[in-house]
Amino acid sequence: MPQLPTAAVIGAGSSGIAAVKALHERGIDVTCFETSDRVGGNWVFGNKNGMSAAYRSLHINTSRGRMAYTDFPMPEHYPDFPRHDQIAEYFDSYVDHFGFRDRIRFETGVEHAQRGADGTWELRTEDGGTHRFDMLLVANGHHWDKQMPEPAFPGTDDFQGTILHAHDYVDSEPLKGKDVVVLGMGNSAMDIAVESSEVARSTILAARRGAWIIPKYLFGKPLDTLANDPRVPFAIARRVMERIVALHVGRPESFGLPKPDHHFGGAHPTVSGRILDRIQHGRVAPKPNIARLHADEVEFTDGTRVHADVVIFCTGYKITFPFFDEHFIAAPDNRIDLFWRVFEPTVPNLAFIGLLQPLGAVMPLAEAQGRWVAEYLRGEYRLPSPDAMRAHMRDDAEAMRKRYVASKRHTIQVDFDDYLHRLAKERKAGAERAAAAGFAPQLPARVGEGVAA
Ligand SMILES: Cc1cc2nc3c(=O)[nH]c(=O)nc-3n(C[C@H](O)[C@H](O)[C@H](O)COP(=O)(O)OP(=O)(O)OC[C@H]3O[C@@H](n4cnc5c(N)ncnc54)[C@H](O)[C@@H]3O)c2cc1C
Ligand SMILES: NC(=O)c1ccc[n+]([C@@H]2O[C@H](COP(=O)([O-])OP(=O)(O)OC[C@H]3O[C@@H](n4cnc5c(N)ncnc54)[C@H](OP(=O)(O)O)[C@@H]3O)[C@@H](O)[C@H]2O)c1
Repeated sequence: MPQLPTAAVIGAGSSGIAAVKALHERGIDVTCFETSDRVGGNWVFGNKNGMSAAYRSLHINTSRGRMAYTDFPMPEHYPDFPRHDQIAEYFDSYVDHFGFRDRIRFETGVEHAQRGADGTWELRTEDGGTHRFDMLLVANGHHWDKQMPEPAFPGTDDFQGTILHAHDYVDSEPLKGKDVVVLGMGNSAMDIAVESSEVARSTILAARRGAWIIPKYLFGKPLDTLANDPRVPFAIARRVMERIVALHVGRPESFGLPKPDHHFGGAHPTVSGRILDRIQHGRVAPKPNIARLHADEVEFTDGTRVHADVVIFCTGYKITFPFFDEHFIAAPDNRIDLFWRVFEPTVPNLAFIGLLQPLGAVMPLAEAQGRWVAEYLRGEYRLPSPDAMRAHMRDDAEAMRKRYVASKRHTIQVDFDDYLHRLAKERKAGAERAAAAGFAPQLPARVGEGVAA
């Protein structure tokens, strides 16, 4: 076997460690740079990297069976939906079990990554070091850079109370006895409104768009474990699920929430077993979008006003890569087109891991992506031509545009089973291309050769 390329991974969250393991076990010399002193990223409550969105009470909303890596189940004694500390512990033990902790350089954030004239990557780390690699894998996460409402609501500067983003939320202690307005219909808004409703004087849940509320359990099982055959067309599966949820849970508007402007499945799932109960108990009051803020009041688009001490914007996150020059690769409005959400056709020695928003958990998908990149670097997989990649990306983007409500939160959506199923087919097709071309590792000095003409 000729010498294999060297690889760097940015980030040792659940996506980065899956990639490091995949490369390491296939004999690739891989180094992972991690800002924090530990693995687990978002799942480390109070992570010293300052990037974790985890709050004290956070539990996963994808069941543990779905979230676990395929070769490392979560411990049997874990509940279906473990808390953040159990999840962080699981990622930690994954690294030790497969013995690749020495591949991770902790407290060594990457400040700048640049591709040189010869195609190799130069990484500058925060300790002042520079490092050169053939391949770069980016796994820096996409739930840490706060998306505040843009443009800001009129009167924001006049508001005398506290304005928080969901990322700043730690626990409900500061909400005790307060009048709280929570904005958003995603999972952060659900969890935070429920917690607020237990201690606050009043809790408003404001939204610019309705959402189907999905329970964690259906028919006594975690909902995401119900049979889901990727061969069943999405339109049929969607209709069946909409019917089941409408019968089992009820339609959102019957709880006073805004009526969804989309069919079931047209938005990233909002999962909550508790929000409807809190609304029915009168502890959370639904409202439409915020129109403006006043000194101590929030005014909504229906003209009503409430007193507010705290406003919490659960308005999502921006996809950013602070280590890349803006003109090189960026994701304006969270848009970034990639082949299978991994490869940028013009830069064949760059891959993104975990940069997707699945209906289901991220981890097994990041694991499959890592294995795919390992095959690529070993020359066992060959990318199609840039034109073929772009055609695939266009089709994919068009399918997502048709299916999802237009929103910055729906730019990187994938379906868990469908993605794994179709990626496996692509890996097979690329293996056939590689076999036809005669296996050869994809060294960047030969990047042009690394892609089929
Ligand atoms: C509140 C919340 C709950 C969620 N719940 C679920 C769930 O139940 N199920 C699910 O599948 N997903 C969930 N997600 C999605 C979440 O993004 C994934 O669970 C997971 O954290 C993604 O892992 P990651 O490795 O891609 O990113 P992260 O966990 O964000 O890890 C990124 C890592 O990269 C490091 N890093 C970043 N920049 C640099 C740099 N320049 N140099 C070096 N290191 C760097 C960070 O320090 C961090 O360790 C949730 C997200 C949020 C915000
Ligand atoms: N328990 C859990 O496991 C858990 C808990 C929290 C979060 N999460 C995950 O974390 C990720 C982020 O979730 P999130 O809820 O923080 O963000 P999100 O899913 O991006 O939702 C953002 C919400 O804010 C709304 N919004 C955005 N900008 C707005 C504006 N200017 N004015 C009014 N509304 C606006 C969006 O509405 P539109 O739809 O109209 O854009 C949407 O309802 C998701 O993957 C989620 O599943 C998981």
